[in-house]
Amino acid sequence: MKNNEQQLSRRNVLKTIGLGSTAGALGLGLFGSSSAQAARPKTPSYLKGAAVKITRVRAILTAPYGTNLVIVKVETNQAGLYGVGCATYTQRAHTVVSAIEDYLDDFCRGKNVANIEDLWQTAYQSSYWRNGPVLNNALSGVDQALWDIKGKMADMPVYDLLGGKSRFAVDTYTHASGKTAEEVVDDVAKYKEMGYRNIRIQLGGYGSTHLTKNPAWKKGGFGSSGDKTMDPQAYKRGTIDIFKKTRERFGDEIELLHDMHERLQPMDAIDMIKRIEEYRPFFIEDPFSPENMGWFELLRKQTSVPIAMGELLNNPHEWIEPMKNRLFDFIRIHISQIGGITPAVKVARLGEVFNVRTAWHGPGDTSPVGHAANAHIDLNVWNFGVQEAQHFSDLAKEVFPGTPEVKDGYMFVNEAPGLGVDINEKLAKKYPPVEYNYNWTQVRGKDGSVIRP
Ligand code: CO
Repeated sequence: MKNNEQQLSRRNVLKTIGLGSTAGALGLGLFGSSSAQAARPKTPSYLKGAAVKITRVRAILTAPYGTNLVIVKVETNQAGLYGVGCATYTQRAHTVVSAIEDYLDDFCRGKNVANIEDLWQTAYQSSYWRNGPVLNNALSGVDQALWDIKGKMADMPVYDLLGGKSRFAVDTYTHASGKTAEEVVDDVAKYKEMGYRNIRIQLGGYGSTHLTKNPAWKKGGFGSSGDKTMDPQAYKRGTIDIFKKTRERFGDEIELLHDMHERLQPMDAIDMIKRIEEYRPFFIEDPFSPENMGWFELLRKQTSVPIAMGELLNNPHEWIEPMKNRLFDFIRIHISQIGGITPAVKVARLGEVFNVRTAWHGPGDTSPVGHAANAHIDLNVWNFGVQEAQHFSDLAKEVFPGTPEVKDGYMFVNEAPGLGVDINEKLAKKYPPVEYNYNWTQVRGKDGSVIRP
């Protein structure tokens, strides 16, 4: 072996001049390139021969629990070596599948799996018109799958590739809700009993639409029958009340969160947050929509309530102003929406510099693969805040072997190389996509005008 010969001759030279292994440990480049090469480790078995190339990029559309999930599988020219990634944009699932199968597959074939950054940048710019949710989600599927492959090749979990663990596990929050304040308090008690330290409280669904019955616009024949109605003042009163009653019952021993889903007019939003301040929320999420960024500055001048924002943002560049102006305390990025692990980690590192923490979006319409991606970054980044968790059914865990587990409110990844999660394609096929239900986004005011979700 040429390598062994080089190593031997280098050792002899070192002995002769009396430096021994110290020079090697110091990495002294005294002996030109051939001896430097000799110090390198053996080529990993995966890299012997030709570089590992992408042979195919596929989309798998499945709905094992009634939500359309899009998973990307990146296959390589090494038998058994592949990666999976989450590309779930459930509201436009078929469109994402088309972006993957009709464009990204062809674009990625033949490319080296090693250069994730280059593949991300070139794929991102390949459409010229870029930075939208459909293409970002498709790209995220490929990006996460490449990190999965890199982990498998290195025999390391993805958090290890990012720099190892900053914490023993991922602290999460869960969702408590109920139609009345009493129901909400009881639901909080249930989750507290399960070990959760952080609990999001909502009175009914977003905007408490159950509080408004028989709106005039329905009688007037406007809108569609499934559309909901929101009364902003009823939502405001009810939300302040659940904070008051939950604190009264549990004292200061738990953390309380709330998602406003940007449904109030700006001054109503500011007024509600100021009134909730005395109940010490951990964070209030999405007081304003991304179309209303200017209001954050006004809000920050009036309250010390921590603000979480960003699940609708598409690109790391959108974080420059919010970071610089300290508009948010928590980064609510939806990892697949921003284009995968690669761009999300960039924003997390930027957050470290500005003392802004992460709180990745972790809804039911992120696949278990996407939740694993969240958790791997959570384990690594120093400026982690909290992680939104889901309770996965046994069926979900069967379709996605290796799904992260939540115990006592802490999320754990399994320590397998890569993302540690896979898809059972045979089983996934048994759960074809479902028709998308628009009701969640169709909310109207009392006069029937549509409210942003
Ligand atoms: Co949200």
